[in-house]
Amino acid sequence: MNTAQSIIKHLDLQPHPEGGYFRETYRSKEEIPKAALPDTYSSSRNYTTAIYFLLTSDTFSAFHRIKQDEIWHFYDGAPIQLHMISPEGHYSMVRIGKDFSNGELPQFTVPGGYWFAANLQKEATFSLVGCTVSPGFDFQDFELPKRDYLQSLFPEHTQIITLLTR
Ligand code: GUN
Repeated sequence: MNTAQSIIKHLDLQPHPEGGYFRETYRSKEEIPKAALPDTYSSSRNYTTAIYFLLTSDTFSAFHRIKQDEIWHFYDGAPIQLHMISPEGHYSMVRIGKDFSNGELPQFTVPGGYWFAANLQKEATFSLVGCTVSPGFDFQDFELPKRDYLQSLFPEHTQIITLLTR
């Protein structure tokens, strides 16, 4: 049976700044020139990138934001809860997993510009997912806000922000 530790070792995953473990599995060689991207991108970006992402129930992926849509794919373990706050301040949550009759989804896309975070519902579990973005991922597009800042933006969501920020 797969365990979090065996997967981290087997797939050579590394700690991610938002929490959890990851490894980039694909980065297209071709690039989208800066001139073809919205002004918000500071330089050219690869067409697309993909990662493995593993989260354990003793931690969480903290609220963060990127510019592009991010497609999440479920691979193994327990369902992962994906929490989102839209730019307008609307909170929503979906579970990525394979218990479809309980509303879990095998694939879900987080819209670009949304703040999002993830955690697990049950103790002593892990979740292995994939995340794909286009334009390709660049840490220049990645914002990981401190708790106080996000609370000041969305005081109505203080509880979930306190739980899922550092
Ligand atoms: N590469 C490094 N970190 C990330 C991330 O958070 N998301 C995606 N899609 N790719 C990454």
